[in-house]
Amino acid sequence: MKSNLTARLGLVLPIIQGPFGGGLSTVKLAATVTNAGGMGSYGAHLLEPEEIIQVTNAIRKETDGSFVMNLWVDSEDKRSKEADATAFEREVSKLEPIYRRNHVAPPVFAGCHSVDFERQAEAILQARPPVFSFVFGIPSQEILNQCRKLGIITMGAATTLDEALAIENAGVDILLATGFEAGGHRPSFLRSADDSLHGTLALVRQIVESVEIPVVAAGGIADAKGVAAALSLGASAVQVGTAFLACKESGAHPTHKRKLFDPSARHTRLSDRVTGRLARFIVTSTLEELEAGDLTHLGYPIQGELTRPFKTAEDGLFYAGQGAPLLRHHAAAELTRDLASLVTGDCCVGDR
Ligand SMILES: Cc1cc2nc3c(=O)[nH]c(=O)nc-3n(C[C@H](O)[C@H](O)[C@H](O)COP(=O)(O)O)c2cc1C
Repeated sequence: MKSNLTARLGLVLPIIQGPFGGGLSTVKLAATVTNAGGMGSYGAHLLEPEEIIQVTNAIRKETDGSFVMNLWVDSEDKRSKEADATAFEREVSKLEPIYRRNHVAPPVFAGCHSVDFERQAEAILQARPPVFSFVFGIPSQEILNQCRKLGIITMGAATTLDEALAIENAGVDILLATGFEAGGHRPSFLRSADDSLHGTLALVRQIVESVEIPVVAAGGIADAKGVAAALSLGASAVQVGTAFLACKESGAHPTHKRKLFDPSARHTRLSDRVTGRLARFIVTSTLEELEAGDLTHLGYPIQGELTRPFKTAEDGLFYAGQGAPLLRHHAAAELTRDLASLVTGDCCVGDR
C-alpha cells in the first residue's frame, strides 16, 4: 500500500488537484485533471446530500478515472450557532465604512446555514466516488467501515504529527499532510489551528517517518521542482490547490483569478477574521482594516457571511497559498502535466 498509491488509484501522474469548498470547485476542473493523468477533487462541504450524488455522477460522466469528493467533518462553530440577527447587524454596522469603500452592499442576516455531516456522508456512501477525503476531523468508525466495504478509498488531512497518528489509527487509507503555506483553511482538529502551524517540509518528513500509510504532501507546492521536492521527502503524491484555483476551469471569480497572478499575491497572511476560522489570504487593505477593527468573532460560518461581499471587490478578500508567485498556467491539463514534468507516477512511489 505504502509503495503503490498511484497504482492503486490508477493515476498516471502523482498530482492531485485539491478540493475547493464554497462553490469554487467545478465538475470540469475535477474531470480535466483526472483526464490529464492526475486526480481531480470536488469540495462538497456546502452541498445538500442530493447535490453530492448529482455532482459525483456528473464527474463520473466526464471521466473514467479516479476522483475525490471532499467534506468537512466539522463545519459549524458553537459561537456561530448562537449568533442572532442582532449580533450580526452589530458587526455589519462596524464594517459599514469598509463596505462603502469597496462599493459593495452590506449583507443581510439569513441565519446559519447548517450542514449535517452524517447526512452528507450517507450521500457519499450512496454515490460511491473512488475517493472520499475529509478535513477538520475524522469520520466515525461506522462511516469508515462502510467506505472500506464499498471500496471507497479514504484520505484524511493532518496539520500535525499527532493528527496524522490519529488518522492512521482510525484506519484511514491515505494521509494528507498539509503545511501552513497552503491556501484555504487550516483544518486542524486536535489543537487550535494557530497552535498547529507546521511548514510542509517539516510536517511531511516527520509524518512519512512515523506512519505506514501513504502520505500526500500539500502546501506551497506550485511547480515541478516543488513536486519533486515533496516526493523526495517521501510523499507518494502531492495535492495542489492555489495553482489549480487560478486555472480557467475553476469556479473562482475572474477578479480572484487575476489577483492570484498579481504581485500583491506575494504577500499572504493567515487570518481568522474573514470566515471565523484560520485561512490564508492575500494581504489587501480590506484584510488589514478587518483585522484592525474591533469585530466580535461570530465564528464559522456566520463570520464568513459578514465578509462575503468582499470576495469579488477589487481590493477585497482572496484566498491564496504562499506558492502564488510561482503560478504560470491558466489551463488545468497543462498545469497537471507541467507539475509532473520532473517525475512520473512510477519513479516517485515507494521512494521514502
Ligand atoms: C479557496 C480554497 C478553498 C479550499 N477548500 C477546501 C475544502 O473545502 N476542503 C479541503 O479539503 N481543502 C480545501 N482547500 C485546500 C486545498 O484543497 C489544498 O489542499 C491546498 O490549497 C494546497 O495548498 P496550496 O494552495 O499551497 O497548493 C482549499 C484551498 C483553497 C485555496
